[in-house]
Amino acid sequence: MTNFDKTVNRRNTDSLKWNVDEGELPMWVADMDFPTAPCVTEAVVAKAKRGVFGYEEVPARWFDAYVNWWKTRHGWEMNKNWLCFVTGVVPAITSCVKSLSKEGDGVCVMTPVYDIFFHSIENTGRKVVESLLEYDGRTYRIDFDNLERLLALPNVSLLILCNPHNPVGRVWSKEELARVGELCARHGVTVISDEIHCDLTEPDADYVPFASASPVCAEISVTAISASKAFNLAGMQSAAVAVPDEKLREKVVRHLNYDEVAEPNSFACVATVAAFTEGEQWLEELRAYLSENRKTVLRFLSEQLPQLKAVEQQATYLLWVDCSAITDDSQSLCNHIRHQTGLYLNCGAKYRGNGNSFVRINVACPRATLNDGLQRLRKGILSFVPTKREAVGWT
Ligand SMILES: Cc1ncc(COP(=O)(O)O)c(C=O)c1O
Repeated sequence: MTNFDKTVNRRNTDSLKWNVDEGELPMWVADMDFPTAPCVTEAVVAKAKRGVFGYEEVPARWFDAYVNWWKTRHGWEMNKNWLCFVTGVVPAITSCVKSLSKEGDGVCVMTPVYDIFFHSIENTGRKVVESLLEYDGRTYRIDFDNLERLLALPNVSLLILCNPHNPVGRVWSKEELARVGELCARHGVTVISDEIHCDLTEPDADYVPFASASPVCAEISVTAISASKAFNLAGMQSAAVAVPDEKLREKVVRHLNYDEVAEPNSFACVATVAAFTEGEQWLEELRAYLSENRKTVLRFLSEQLPQLKAVEQQATYLLWVDCSAITDDSQSLCNHIRHQTGLYLNCGAKYRGNGNSFVRINVACPRATLNDGLQRLRKGILSFVPTKREAVGWT
């Protein structure tokens, strides 16, 4: 049994997340404060001990590991030749934006959404076309009428889907995905489905790979997957794209190679293979721990900070917290909390959509760290002067 309560000191370890001042507590970027599964570390150490770090090929067992994991855990039978190695989900998305759209094209996203999508679109000379997700105070839904209107625009050639969705925590249902696929096919729009959070769902939430939702979805999509979120391997720079359609795959793979993002470093494949072949038990324990962390935050908010409300979270360890009772300026709120308490959160505004009234909290940490974060959050919120005129009665 893994002891996820054990804290690991990540200060001064060149961690992006922990590059903060003494006394500050980072609960922002999506990496976890847990060591990866022991089977991954053992495989990486064994490889390091060989001491030769020449150019690498992607081994057959890497393809097998992905195919078996998706077949047994997610009920999607991929063919090995659909897969191509890539150095990360973001490099895959940026490369696909370049290969599957033209400069000046519109790329549709459903906001609020993972902010780096905007960079992949805007840094390559494309335009972000935002379909706002509908928020009912509890959860988010796709506004299909609005989505269809945008997909029908003559310059929109791509949709980047986040499944499960960071930061709103939705696991899209098979029906929702099939409907997205149908609309995209109707309007000649290709789908890039980012499924990096798919192994971090709540026990009762069923992740459905977009490409498995219908034959149409398979035909028009590129799926980006990785072991990196679930096994905390972001620094290994290892991911894959799966493209069932041969013509689409040819285009995508050619561009990944052209962009020089299709070759692994010495540890990328070894870590992924270990995770997907030996890491299942560890992952189940992690999922249970994360689920308890989510519940801890919900309890704390309802008892101590009822003016905040976490939206229903079906996946990811990133809680999306509605602060609309006290602000519509999440940047000021996050600045205040950090300044007053050292707690470093992501401000919701950067995810666009209705993110201005939200903060994102990374709860993938030992419970003692989480409790420290929650106390800081309380202090920060109680000392914050509401920036909304209608905010009343919450102290
Ligand atoms: C939705 C989503 N996609 C992609 C990434 C990053 O992927 P990678 O590190 O493989 O480039 C993240 C990281 O937080 C993410 O949340």
